[in-house]
Amino acid sequence: MFSMIRVATIDTSSQLASSFINSQRLWDRHMEMAKIGATPAGGVNRAALTALDNDARALFTRWAKDLEFPSSIDPMGNLFVRRPGLDLDAAPVMSGSHLDTQPSGGRFDGIYGVLCALEALQAIDAAGVKTRRPIEAAVWTNEEGVRFQPGCMGSLGFTHPQRLEQLLEAKDDDGVTLRQAVRTLKERIPEAVEQSPHRPVAAFVEAHIEQGPVLEQSGNTIGIVSGIQGTRRFHVEITGEDAHAGTTPRSRRKDALSAAVAMVSALEAVFHDDPDDVTRFTVGAFNVKPNAESVVPGYVMFSIDFRQPEETVIARLGDQVETLCQRNAGRCEVRVTQTSRTPPIRFEGLVPDTILNVTQQLNLSHMHIYSGAGHDAQHLFNICPTGMIFVPCKGGVSHNESEYATPADLADGARVLTDTLVQLANSPD
Ligand code: GLV
Ligand code: MN
Ligand code: MN
Repeated sequence: MFSMIRVATIDTSSQLASSFINSQRLWDRHMEMAKIGATPAGGVNRAALTALDNDARALFTRWAKDLEFPSSIDPMGNLFVRRPGLDLDAAPVMSGSHLDTQPSGGRFDGIYGVLCALEALQAIDAAGVKTRRPIEAAVWTNEEGVRFQPGCMGSLGFTHPQRLEQLLEAKDDDGVTLRQAVRTLKERIPEAVEQSPHRPVAAFVEAHIEQGPVLEQSGNTIGIVSGIQGTRRFHVEITGEDAHAGTTPRSRRKDALSAAVAMVSALEAVFHDDPDDVTRFTVGAFNVKPNAESVVPGYVMFSIDFRQPEETVIARLGDQVETLCQRNAGRCEVRVTQTSRTPPIRFEGLVPDTILNVTQQLNLSHMHIYSGAGHDAQHLFNICPTGMIFVPCKGGVSHNESEYATPADLADGARVLTDTLVQLANSPD
């Protein structure tokens, strides 16, 4: 897509900026942020645009305001904090991630990318480094897809104008629309001015914990992300009939749970038929109604999340979901809805090249790495040169309350991000 290779030149002011990264400050902000929605087991539960998520964004905005960086908010609730550039008309270089979490989420997934971007802005400012383009730290809305579907919704709406209106009408389980939830957020952060829904972006860089074991096992500190595997998600709804558990013979039952179990086992047989264990297949949500011990269940909804690096395999496997479900429905009705589809992508050219140059200048151990998890960067990729920086997380554990990354690794990732942002913000058009 962005085939024109622009050689990232060494900008010595960038090296100065990364020396202003403050590891303790970056760590302390993580710990402060983790108090909002803290779980007893040491994790975080902060679904998108809930009061807790809005509190987290208010805290982020306050930190930015204390540093005199203005904030803005767009119709999807994406929040931006800006350090102006010398060229007032130039499109910004952006960096960021998300502050929402899974229900049993950790303190770093997404949060690191947001706080790392703020730390970079602060370091660049402290170094007195001037950049031609503005640099913005972004908080994308509902990356995790817990409260609204699909996930990565904020960055999807930002980069796909034709999807905006439909996304704003997405409803949570209580019937609250995203549009209404964003209104509540705006009331919580009145200092953030209205931002337009779609804007040109000069380049996007997302820092993130790896969420897998590769960096830790290899002993490298920095992962230069080469791409993200594709994802398809489905909801499968099975409608049978509630019936008495003691009196209804098998021949008369329309048992939605039995049908669902048969479907999941047929799907697993097909999706796990992969000798290299490359395809990731997960049924993560499973709702049974009425969920009563003496009632044959009349309704089940389950989710499917599967991921693969090869588009042809994604198409071949995903296109079998409906047939496999229909074939195992028994006497029940089944409805299969694809809730999202994201193609696999490869990061190439300006941004990964700049990250590599900077990592080498900073003398940090590094490797190229492919992302198994989805990220907002996969949508920004559609509108601007994009790349990602990974740092290790303990045991490769993520989407788990025990998720952990060391202060030293987080700070090294922030140093790479800072110098990368300065170089991108001063690179030629
Ligand atoms: C993002 O959190 C994902 O599920 O990949
Ligand atoms: Mn994330
Ligand atoms: Mn996540």
